Amino acid sequence: MAETNKTATLTIDGQSYELPILSPTAGPDVIDIRKLYAQAGVFTYDPGFTSTASTDSTITFIDGGKGELLHRGYPIDQLAGQSNYLEVCYALLYGDLPSKAQMDDFEARVTNHTMLHEQMVNFFRGFRRDAHPMAIMVGVVGAMSAFYHDSTDISDPWQREVASIRLIAKMPTIAAWAYKYSIGQPFVYPRNDLDYASNFLRMCFSVPAEDYVPDPILSKAMDRIFTLHADHEQNASTSTVRLASSSGANPFACIAAGIACLWGPAHGGANQACLEMLREIGTVDRIPEFIARAKDKEDPFRLMGFGHRVYKNFDPRAKVMKQSADEVLDLLGVENNPVLQVAKELEKAALADPYFADKKLFPNVDFYSGIILEAMGFPTSMFTPIFALSRTVGWISQWKEQLDDPQLKIGRPRQLYKGETLRDYVPIDKR
Ligand code: CMC
Repeated sequence: MAETNKTATLTIDGQSYELPILSPTAGPDVIDIRKLYAQAGVFTYDPGFTSTASTDSTITFIDGGKGELLHRGYPIDQLAGQSNYLEVCYALLYGDLPSKAQMDDFEARVTNHTMLHEQMVNFFRGFRRDAHPMAIMVGVVGAMSAFYHDSTDISDPWQREVASIRLIAKMPTIAAWAYKYSIGQPFVYPRNDLDYASNFLRMCFSVPAEDYVPDPILSKAMDRIFTLHADHEQNASTSTVRLASSSGANPFACIAAGIACLWGPAHGGANQACLEMLREIGTVDRIPEFIARAKDKEDPFRLMGFGHRVYKNFDPRAKVMKQSADEVLDLLGVENNPVLQVAKELEKAALADPYFADKKLFPNVDFYSGIILEAMGFPTSMFTPIFALSRTVGWISQWKEQLDDPQLKIGRPRQLYKGETLRDYVPIDKR
């Protein structure tokens, strides 16, 4: 970020402080308050980071007003339409789209790492059968630091690179095995002659008694879901990864922290929550009741899959996802599925309602991704693991960028303390 000759003046009790203003290559200017506490003895207060840039970054840019999402400058609709997930991974990790030779090399490196250490099978088997696949993923990815000691030294660029490739390569296997374990089916090993998305679909849906041959349209749709979730600048889970890593934690521990954060229904858990909501609504005639609940301030219910902290006109990912949903539903001939009928009518009803228009609440990526995944045969419990698998490259790219930053400091927010002031301890018999 370049320093401008603009400054902001802050006046406290008649004393003025000049704060530098930094200019990004895109997006609003940023007031640099790094020296504020040292100079003025005050903190700033911004719960939820609604006005605070926690880092500088060159990876992803979002203009929420315009509904624009760029990875390394490339718009998401072009990437989703013309590129593929592994190519986008390369761009996120290394800064630009690869040449043919670079792509072949990258693909070969990812493909060579798709298997898991065989002893990890025992680790999976330690979970209860009814464990949520996200619970298994948090545990297994964290446990990778116990299996891959040769890629946990973050001061070694080569180990950082190997950890990155391992995570991107193994995440589909981990997610698919978490699913297989939860339904009591044997684990299916990766096949390196398949592309990234087809391999994942096969590991999820193949059984020893019958091989699964993915339809190219479904593989393309899966790849697009991966691409659309690949990165999203400083969202909650990415910020979690950065915060965890700022202490020097190993990459597997940091990504496990990101997976844990993603699980929540306000973030990656929204796709599962959305489908569950559509099922709960059940029939089109109940839509007005749920719309009324979403608008009622006394009711905590929200329309899942609607709204976004940053996008205030539309979610560009949702646009592409909607198109993909139409293709997949057409292929699978499931347009009359009751859940999908409810989804379509709910979308129409919410978009026509002034409450949602006034608050700029539009369907987000999770509204449509759940619909596609359901049509493909995934249970709702797999929706968030698929998001986690896709977002791994974003977490890793942001983690790498942070480690390369010479200004890296441990993340340590301040607070506005509202508790008791100093008081003396009272022994238990005197309270
Ligand atoms: N249904 C009904 N009302 C809503 C909704 C919703 N889905 N989302 C926001 N609002 C209202 C909210 O009640 C508030 O009203 P008021 O100003 O009267 O108090 C106003 O809109 C602003 O909401 P907010 O919670 O202050 O906004 P936020 O930026 O903190 O929250 C959000 C963003 C995504 C957490 C929120 O819109 C939400 O909970 N959506 C449902 C969950 C969801 O779909 N999450 C997936 C996000 S996309 C995938 C990802 O990147 O993780």
